Amino acid sequence: MGCNIFYSNGNINETDREKLTGVKGGVFWLFGLSGSGKSAISRKVEEILVNRGILSFRLDGDNLRSGLNSDLGFSKEDRYENIRRAAETAKLMAGAGVVVLATFITPLKENRKAAENILGPYYNGVYIKCSLETCKNRDPKGLYQKAMKGEIPQFTGVSSPFEEPAGNIFTIDTDNIDEDACVSMLVKYVMEIIK
Ligand code: ADX
Repeated sequence: MGCNIFYSNGNINETDREKLTGVKGGVFWLFGLSGSGKSAISRKVEEILVNRGILSFRLDGDNLRSGLNSDLGFSKEDRYENIRRAAETAKLMAGAGVVVLATFITPLKENRKAAENILGPYYNGVYIKCSLETCKNRDPKGLYQKAMKGEIPQFTGVSSPFEEPAGNIFTIDTDNIDEDACVSMLVKYVMEIIK
């Protein structure tokens, strides 16, 4: 923080807000390849949570890149900045009591670490695991086709890296589990953490 900047605390703290909403704000950071199912799962989870009276909101890579992050591309530096801004936005929302479903490819371990460092205890990493082969077959936006023809530079999984996570990360394997079961898994996980 610059030396002429003074962080201003309010009179209301998180416990006051929890009394209002009945849950803890938090961020569920869904990462994985394009086409792995991050957006599809998060849309359904958001709907289920809101129908239960829990204020939930999706922060989605494509959506943020349409506004706040529209000046960013897909170089290593731009992806880092994309994640930094997304995490800072998610942090503000979680602080306001919202259950945020953040869906970003977040391709590198250092990107995931950056998000975790910004979010601290709000961060809950969720790996949406799916083989590149399945993502290419699904190709919901037709982007893999284009990327393999060389029409999209730096496309994750084709001409830009995706690092598999290591260690004990909550993982949803969309290759082997059907979508409704994936949704139920994430709802259960979210409910345990925000209660
Ligand atoms: S991230 O790598 O910086 O985390 P983010 O999740 O915001 O990526 O955006 C990924 C989305 O951007 C993809 O779902 C896809 O629709 C679109 N996209 C366009 N160009 C690329 C690219 N070169 N690599 C990956 N995704 C791309």
